[in-house]
Amino acid sequence: MQTMIGVIGGSGLYQIEGLEGASWVQVETPWGQPSDELLVGRLDGVPMAFLPRHGRGHVQTPSSINYRANIDALKRLGCTDVVAVSAVGSLREDYRPGDFVLVDQYIDRTFAREKSFFGPGLVGHVGFAHPTCPRLSDTCAEAALAQGVTVHRGATYVAMEGPQFSTLAESRLYRSWGADVIGMTGMPEAKLAREAELCYACVAMVTDYDCWHPDHDSVDVAMVIRTLTQNAGHARGLVARLPALLGQDRAPCPHGCDRALDTAIMTAPDK
Ligand code: ADE
Repeated sequence: MQTMIGVIGGSGLYQIEGLEGASWVQVETPWGQPSDELLVGRLDGVPMAFLPRHGRGHVQTPSSINYRANIDALKRLGCTDVVAVSAVGSLREDYRPGDFVLVDQYIDRTFAREKSFFGPGLVGHVGFAHPTCPRLSDTCAEAALAQGVTVHRGATYVAMEGPQFSTLAESRLYRSWGADVIGMTGMPEAKLAREAELCYACVAMVTDYDCWHPDHDSVDVAMVIRTLTQNAGHARGLVARLPALLGQDRAPCPHGCDRALDTAIMTAPDK
């Protein structure tokens, strides 16, 4: 199967450079409008599609993003692998601002978002014990290391509704749960990617220490933007390395991400 890489750019990543034959295309979906048009082109012979998660100009809030339309648009364009780049706060001392983190677990605390493509009439339950694709995450880690950034493998991401940052009590609670990073957009994106049978990896860029750290100020947007601006080049470099690392032809996912629906549908086929 031909590889096609989808990139969902978070805060700080609003474009990818060097795409050959690039053009912004509008994709219609049954779920409504994606956050923006998608930038489609080729890099190292591999087709790619880029979607700014918050839209160009950063106009969508974490709660107003149409996650279903975003994932569906990437799927419709033919993406096989989706790399989601997200800004996060750190819940542990050794994950420092500027570090890159490959998320492999989530605690979903969001509550005001559509979280499934299934519903009345078509009932399905995909397995989600391992929410990100290890093969794709390995490739992203390799790309990040080649950029010379500090990379942490295997981290638990708390997805909060926002848009306000956490209280001190919440931040301490999430640390007591063993969570490593916190952000506002990781869910339900990862759940929907699994339902869409996409390999999905989350590259989290640490921008701050949230508010629990006694030696750091409480988080504010200026701080987040400052770190993101310093790191955007590394994020773009990481993305640019992916096509060469993944290659043009894609073997079936050894972890079964691309076959998640084989065992998920409850509704009888003739209904
Ligand atoms: N995104 C970046 N930093 C964050 C934080 N501390 N909490 C939630 N989302 C974030």
